[in-house]
Amino acid sequence: MADQYDVIIIGGGPGGYNGAIRAGQLGLKVACVEKRKTLGGTCLNVGCIPSKALLHATELYETAEKDFGGMGMKASVTFDLPKMMEAKSRTVSGLTDGVKFLFRKNKVDHMEGTGRIVDANTVDVDGKQLKTGNIVIATGSEVAPLPGVEIDEERIVSSTGALELHEVPGKMIVIGGGVIGLELGSVWRRLGAEVTVVEFLDHILPGMDGEVQKQAMRIFRKQGMKFKVGHKVTGIEKLNTGLKVFCEPSGGGRADTMDADVVLVCIGRRPYTNGLGLDAIGVKTDKRGFIETDHFKTNIDGIYAIGDCTHGPMLAHKAEDEGVAVMEIIAGKAGHVNYGVIPGVVYTKPEIAFVGKTEEELKQAGIKYKSGKFPFTANSRARVNHEMDGFFKILAHAETDEILGAHMVAVGAGDMIHEVCVAMEFRAASEDIARTCHAHPTMSEAVRQASMGVEGWTMQM
Ligand code: FAD
Ligand code: NAI
Repeated sequence: MADQYDVIIIGGGPGGYNGAIRAGQLGLKVACVEKRKTLGGTCLNVGCIPSKALLHATELYETAEKDFGGMGMKASVTFDLPKMMEAKSRTVSGLTDGVKFLFRKNKVDHMEGTGRIVDANTVDVDGKQLKTGNIVIATGSEVAPLPGVEIDEERIVSSTGALELHEVPGKMIVIGGGVIGLELGSVWRRLGAEVTVVEFLDHILPGMDGEVQKQAMRIFRKQGMKFKVGHKVTGIEKLNTGLKVFCEPSGGGRADTMDADVVLVCIGRRPYTNGLGLDAIGVKTDKRGFIETDHFKTNIDGIYAIGDCTHGPMLAHKAEDEGVAVMEIIAGKAGHVNYGVIPGVVYTKPEIAFVGKTEEELKQAGIKYKSGKFPFTANSRARVNHEMDGFFKILAHAETDEILGAHMVAVGAGDMIHEVCVAMEFRAASEDIARTCHAHPTMSEAVRQASMGVEGWTMQM
């Protein structure tokens, strides 16, 4: 007799595991199928968590090495790469084991194996057929390949290989000036690699606020990262002594070569739905392979999809919110994801954080807005901390003053942005932040000062 579930989730990443836990809380009989040995998906195993572990360790290392002097301290620091990698792996396994524990606590059946959808009520897991009322696809994404460049995860690596290098490369070329390129490029630069980012466009961090793009590149350059914007890599030759990277202007022109020990390919990610049997059962995908959904429902009744394999930002917290919402919908509740208020953070030093619309998007949509901006050079806590790079900018509707977006570059930006997220969730006006008492001296005062600036009464500048 086959098992009967209310819902089977395929994929144990942030979308799948948070969804499974919520389903358990709601009293649904739920199973989560994951083909990896550990739960947590890309995020916990080879994404958010290991990258942040290395970013944190190397940030401390660089601070001790370069910034202590300015505050009257002297430190002589060295690093032990295998031990740094071990600490990262311990953090990862602590968290993946934590998800296992939460599954047990919330009565989620963890099925280790590869899931394939047989029909809207049947999932095959390595030959075993499970019956279910609903199926949620949460199979995530994979690295987008660069034609003509073969990733071997040793010398030509994706983010996964870049999180596992055995030694610091002398020269590292990063293809793609997006989030992964800047985060992992920063890790290896801090440890001593000469890092050059080759970016197809004439700016880094596509889609982000224009001022953020410019200031971020200026800061990363000052830190020693090199940029070759408006260029594309056309091929890589493997030599005994290293790698020869062929490069040319994006619009065509004189070709060029560069030497490297390691090349990191990070030109984006694409949805991963291999082997799920979507074609056989007729689940619709778009030209790029993203599953088409409407409120998480695919075109087949009882089959839903969430997270990176669907449209929207490829972010762990977006997948998580969708996982929770889809289970609430299946359980007969409302389910809520506010796509206008999904923050994004780049975990470099300083961090880059944003939420809502950029000025460029508002202009394009013809929406009239006002803005307030405050530099961290004028923030007392930033001066105390010797961390004055960056600014905070808030955008509000010209007539109603409703907050439409916020963009910032600052140490701690990834935490500070949530003040604006909560305000936006409540559809607050910029004046609401301006009139909220903020503790002194804090970096968050810049958020208030910029909000005062929307009506021209910034006080500390
Ligand atoms: P995934 O986490 O990809 O999980 C999908 C799971 O499904 C995988 O474990 C896969 O093995 C499994 N699976 C696939 N097919 C099957 C099948 N047929 N049967 C069984 N199992 C299957 N996002 C952030 O918000 N913050 C960050 O700091 C951040 N850092 C990142 C750093 C890196 C280097 C990378 C690569 C990504 C990062 N991301 C970050 C993005 C984040 O990891 C993803 O957005 C998030 O993991 C998506 O969650 P998901 O549940 O949709 O898919
Ligand atoms: P990305 O989309 O952020 O950046 C890719 C970059 O590569 C873009 O700037 C693009 O213009 C450039 N590019 C594309 N083709 C190119 C070519 N042929 N030559 C040179 N440059 C080229 O993608 P990335 O960095 O791979 O990250 C993938 C996704 O993972 C992100 O979009 C994000 O959703 C997620 N992620 C999130 C993190 C976070 O939230 N902190 C951290 C890491 C990843």
